[in-house]
Amino acid sequence: MLMSILPSSSSTTEVLCYGLGLAFCAVMVLLKWNDIRYRRKGVPPGTMGWPVFGETSGFLKQGPDFMKDKRARYGNLFKTHALGSPTVISMDPKVNKNLLMNETQGLIPGYPVSMRNILGNNNIAAVHGAFHKRIRGSMLSLVGPPAIKNHLLTRTEHFMKSFLDNWAGQTIDIQDKTKQMAFFVSMNLIVDDEPKSFHEAFKAKFDNILLGTISLPINIPGTNYYKGLQAREKVNAVLKELLAKRRASDAPHDDILDQLLRWEDPKYKLNDEEIIDQIITILYSGYETVSTTTMMAIKYLHDNPKVLQELREEHFAILERKRSDDEPLTWEDYKNMSLTRAVILETSRLASVVNGVLRKTNTDVELNGFIIPKGWRVYVYTREINYDPFLYSEPFSFNPKRWLKTSLEAHPHNMLFGSGIRICPGKELGIVKISVFLHHFVTKFRWEEEEGNKLRQFPRVEAPNGLNIRVTQY
Ligand code: HEM
Repeated sequence: MLMSILPSSSSTTEVLCYGLGLAFCAVMVLLKWNDIRYRRKGVPPGTMGWPVFGETSGFLKQGPDFMKDKRARYGNLFKTHALGSPTVISMDPKVNKNLLMNETQGLIPGYPVSMRNILGNNNIAAVHGAFHKRIRGSMLSLVGPPAIKNHLLTRTEHFMKSFLDNWAGQTIDIQDKTKQMAFFVSMNLIVDDEPKSFHEAFKAKFDNILLGTISLPINIPGTNYYKGLQAREKVNAVLKELLAKRRASDAPHDDILDQLLRWEDPKYKLNDEEIIDQIITILYSGYETVSTTTMMAIKYLHDNPKVLQELREEHFAILERKRSDDEPLTWEDYKNMSLTRAVILETSRLASVVNGVLRKTNTDVELNGFIIPKGWRVYVYTREINYDPFLYSEPFSFNPKRWLKTSLEAHPHNMLFGSGIRICPGKELGIVKISVFLHHFVTKFRWEEEEGNKLRQFPRVEAPNGLNIRVTQY
């Protein structure tokens, strides 16, 4: 009886084979599902991976190797499905340049939903066309070179001097310190009269905003996205209160908030919601970019003592021209920091602080003979250009002097700060902040790295356990 309900050994094998065959077919259907779903004549070659997840796992885990592997198989322009969206990745410098120059022709910013929802609808990266032009005009007049010359340089130096006070004799995590520096210097430029405790409480909220923007948009308690949205509401409330307080007082101020409130020119006059979004953009855009570049500059200078020595000479020469220790840095001093600028550009290139930028199509777009359907993302991947041996000889060595040839910074394939109508409006301010930090850091201190520091380069440059250095007086 028992025998009759149990299959014989040959029928067991048949059932097993049948089961395996079914499972194989199911996997194949699943694997091909995305390819079938997004199949369209004329789209670039490539694979779309699993339903929903696409090839996100390989994209994030293998990073640059994922891109190189795809390029070897499909060329410089290929399709994939990553981070929840069908995406075309471009690794061709000329195509990348064109993509960034021609935003109006069917391409708009394509940053993830979580970023857009938390940073706000008036955020410069969320808007396009005439609205973008107005918000960008306002941004440039707040942080561009004339504003730096007029007041931001002096205020930046004032902050850096007190921030770098008393570091000698300590072991510090320079990753943490440069994050604090990047955030608090922006806060000080935006609001000149609030106490340190206000800035610290604001940073705690803002760090949740930052985490929320780089997480999956799942709005349930406990997720980083949820915390980011909550933090955004709290930050809105704090900033609204600040606007009301300023309007109720006649006290003079020399900060970005004052400028935002005083503008009468209809070209730049913003409503309260736009003012708040603009403040959040300045804090957000100049945060990780500035902190990571500063941390990596310190790392590369530590590993290249000859460059560090020459950099010190540049800064001591500036100090020698001063009549007293308190005499502030001028715009001319900053313009004379040519090796410092070269160190910053070389750091940004070698570390690839920015891997690329995202766009989205709002209509079918033709690109290099291919079609990119409406609603797809375009990842303008610029990382590989940073290691192009034709543009940068010995691309993996730290050689800031290559940037002293003026033509390199203006080279069309240099996209360290983006290109076209969205080229970074905070580029000069970012370089000023890092230059002034380095000016005080290298003239006041020596430093040695502690054992055991590790660096990760993708998806973002970071030291997972911190970058610890021992600081002594110079
Ligand atoms: C080393 C520092 C920095 C780097 C490497 C950097 C890099 C970039 C890049 C690559 C873009 C282009 C994004 C795109 O095309 O979608 C960009 C845009 C932008 N950056 Fe920076 N940035 C830096 C510092 C700053 C600072 C200090 C600010 C402060 C205001 C800032 C504000 C912005 C804004 C508002 C945009 C958007 C421009 C637009 O959409 O029109 N950046 N940045």
